[in-house]
Amino acid sequence: MGFETGDDWLLKFINKGATAEEMIKAGRMVVESGIHLSEYVILGLGGVERSEVHSKNKTKVKFNIVELYSILNVFERCIFLSSKKELKPAIALYPTPVVLATSVDEKGKPNVCTLAWAGVLCSEPPQIGISIRPSRYSHELIIKTKEYVVNIPTADIVKETDYCGMVTGKKVDKFKETKLTPVKAKKVKPPLIKECPVNLECKVKDIIKLGAHDLFIGEIVNINADADVMDSPTNINFGKLKAITWNPISREYYGLGESLGEYGFSQKKQ
Ligand SMILES: Cc1cc2nc3c(=O)[nH]c(=O)nc-3n(C[C@H](O)[C@H](O)[C@H](O)COP(=O)(O)O)c2cc1C
Repeated sequence: MGFETGDDWLLKFINKGATAEEMIKAGRMVVESGIHLSEYVILGLGGVERSEVHSKNKTKVKFNIVELYSILNVFERCIFLSSKKELKPAIALYPTPVVLATSVDEKGKPNVCTLAWAGVLCSEPPQIGISIRPSRYSHELIIKTKEYVVNIPTADIVKETDYCGMVTGKKVDKFKETKLTPVKAKKVKPPLIKECPVNLECKVKDIIKLGAHDLFIGEIVNINADADVMDSPTNINFGKLKAITWNPISREYYGLGESLGEYGFSQKKQ
């Protein structure tokens, strides 16, 4: 291994991203586990609390290579568990909502497509964005009509939601196959989905080419919400809606937990 001093050894771990605190913690674990170390290694472990660690083990015992490796493993595990790692850039944002976007062809025949690349863009005027690959049938329809509805599905229809992301409306009537119910919207041609408690009617304001996906910026021109997810005539209570989220890394659907606190609760006096 060729360590000149314990401090060299310590430095190796610090260079890997271990903080002094982590080093001390790991040092204690090593000392308490009864593995014998030579004094200079123990000194090296000390860092901030050198004397404390040192005082626990005053014996000068030469370590052998097997012992050194096992100590090294303990350290590497500690460092791995407690430090930040860098990953390649990817969509690692969570939670991402899962929505069902509806669109229509020129004859008014509706299509529905599952999207996870959907999100809030602006509060006033209220705008949301959906990103769709040009290969999707929905892309073709929305480009032509400049309208879509973002429907929020619930855990009760997660299977139907998955299905709508597996097959294309070019070949399959997804409303017929899933038995989801199209309902006439007020301000746009694409239908609402009855089984989705909240539906956002949108008119396309802009389309931006991003790469694999094109972003359709939509202004929300009307909102529809089921009475049973509302707690006042003007307020949707999303806590009552079993929304579905998407884990873009594991590619799995997740539900949502309970409310963790209302907006600004950190500022309120206890
Ligand atoms: C959970 C999930 C999320 C998806 N998110 C997107 C998305 O954000 N953008 C996209 O272009 N396709 C997305 N897809 C794929 C489309 O839903 C899929 O290609 C679908 O068959 C397209 O339907 P269409 O051709 O009828 O428009 C997603 C699929 C699933 C299952």
